[in-house]
Amino acid sequence: MFGKKKQVPTIDKDQLELIENAQKRIRQKKRLYIHFVIFLIGAVFLIIANTVLGIGKDITLLGKEWFLYAILIWLFLFAYHFFNVFITNKFMGKDWEKKQLDKLVGQQQQRIEKLKSKLLKEETKIAQSQAYNEAKALESNKTKRTSNLLTIIVAAGEDNAIGKDNDLIWHLSNDLKRFKKLTSGHHIIMGRKTFESFPKPLPNRTHIVITRQSDYKAPDGVIIVNNLEDAIDAARSDEQPFIIGGGEIYKQSLTIADKLEITRVHATFEDADTFFPEINESQWKEISRTTHDADENHKYAFSFITYERR
Ligand SMILES: NC(=O)c1ccc[n+]([C@@H]2O[C@H](COP(=O)([O-])OP(=O)(O)OC[C@H]3O[C@@H](n4cnc5c(N)ncnc54)[C@H](OP(=O)(O)O)[C@@H]3O)[C@@H](O)[C@H]2O)c1
Repeated sequence: MFGKKKQVPTIDKDQLELIENAQKRIRQKKRLYIHFVIFLIGAVFLIIANTVLGIGKDITLLGKEWFLYAILIWLFLFAYHFFNVFITNKFMGKDWEKKQLDKLVGQQQQRIEKLKSKLLKEETKIAQSQAYNEAKALESNKTKRTSNLLTIIVAAGEDNAIGKDNDLIWHLSNDLKRFKKLTSGHHIIMGRKTFESFPKPLPNRTHIVITRQSDYKAPDGVIIVNNLEDAIDAARSDEQPFIIGGGEIYKQSLTIADKLEITRVHATFEDADTFFPEINESQWKEISRTTHDADENHKYAFSFITYERR
């Protein structure tokens, strides 16, 4: 639409001069060669004209025929021409050629240096932009991760006890109801042992089970992964995936979770064998708490406490 951009000649003045000189030199030599050929033919023609055709047979100078003088004059002119080409105009002698060559090599080297430094700059820019893109991708991954509210849900005693012999230590129906209410419709991430503590998968939740076993078999619909990162990745479509235990998985995920839903059971359990890690209050802010006393359905008093990361 806007026409082609005019090409800027990449050849410089010195190179142009060298080419022009070379062309001039070729032309000079060509002319000398033509002159030589014409001279030979002309000389033969003059000899024939005088001796065979008898033209100017009577014209002699110092006893010699005229054609001899004509040839000599022409020979002199040719010699002058020859002299001009190879002596007077010998502008492309060895020294001159060497000088030109050195000049051109120097210029090419300068160009190479310029290109090298340009390339280096480009490479630096590329490396910087790659690093920038990687950092951006990392940042966006983080954002993606944190846009999901990774929530730990747990019921723990005052001493952080959470289980014994791969089972819960208490039965608190309101806690189970709350667990069901909060986790229904979501992904629930758990260790293999916790998964095996259920009689069957919990309804209306997507189970993600973490195990190091490569051939672990589970019922259809249960997602098996081999590490916590893959578990979180498998739940990325869920805006609030839950980590539901047990002890090993809680320990690994407490540093990356965004929210804690704790049922604090107000008692200690000396014979427990599995524990929740200590909650560092400097990292977690309590945002809500409701307390329930013990009653006929609940052997222990307990509090529902919600924490958010500071
Ligand atoms: N009070 C509560 O709210 C609550 C909630 C849940 C559970 N619990 C209790 O907690 C107890 C179970 O907890 P637990 O600590 O013994 O077991 P767990 O955390 O449920 O599961 C441990 C298993 O998870 C797999 N695993 C752990 N980290 C892994 C990793 N980084 N990569 C791959 N696989 C990994 C391993 O499975 P493989 O051995 O197959 O490799 C490991 O043996 C039970 O008593 C249960 O009742 C209590």
